[in-house]
Amino acid sequence: MDGVTVVDHVLLRRLLSILRDKDTPHRVFRETMTDAALILGYEAMRGLRPAEVEIETPLERTPGVRLADEVFVVAILRAGLGLVDGFLRLVPEARVGHLGMYRDEEALRPVGYYENIPSGVEDAEVFVVDPMLATGGSGVQAIARLKRAGARRIHFVCLVAAPEGCRALREAHPDVHITTAAVDRELDETGYIRPGLGDAGDRIFGTD
Ligand code: PRP
Ligand code: URA
Repeated sequence: MDGVTVVDHVLLRRLLSILRDKDTPHRVFRETMTDAALILGYEAMRGLRPAEVEIETPLERTPGVRLADEVFVVAILRAGLGLVDGFLRLVPEARVGHLGMYRDEEALRPVGYYENIPSGVEDAEVFVVDPMLATGGSGVQAIARLKRAGARRIHFVCLVAAPEGCRALREAHPDVHITTAAVDRELDETGYIRPGLGDAGDRIFGTD
């Protein structure tokens, strides 16, 4: 699908298989999510602009790069927290924003309950992270909130997406690219992604 990158790497497929497995305990689930975030972040940040700098090695001066733009990682609570550490290993100086949102499980509509977006978002490369893109409601609303706060360069990164969620997000925000480890078969009648991995927040935090 246009505007959607499905990261094709055997190491990521292996990690996703661990995450899908219903017998994976939550400690392993959480660690594996961080490892997957490293690979997803590496791919999603491919387009970051370099700024040329001069480095002095022990022997001579040579050209090097630093990141030209500030990176913001914005987690959709709760489950998005599971991807933050992996992103911060790649860009330790990134600022982290939080958007509190839960899905009303009957109407499957997102309900916002918290917002903390660091200042300077207008000029940042903003990576919105949430492992699951199901109906797309949460992602669409999160990005709308970021745009209202002034964000102009937004990327959406998830682990598992439903085709319905990809379509909804791209329709609402055609300027936002999606990076994911998989686009699964479908959403079921209760709004779960099939085959999916179940409830990502519950599996990260050991709640259910
Ligand atoms: C999950 C997930 C997304 C949302 C996806 O969160 O982490 O935020 O559902 O569904 P959607 O695309 O249909 O909006 P959930 O509401 O379960 O909250 P949690 O992260 O607190 O568990
Ligand atoms: N949220 C999840 O955590 N899992 C799904 O399958 C759909 C939404």
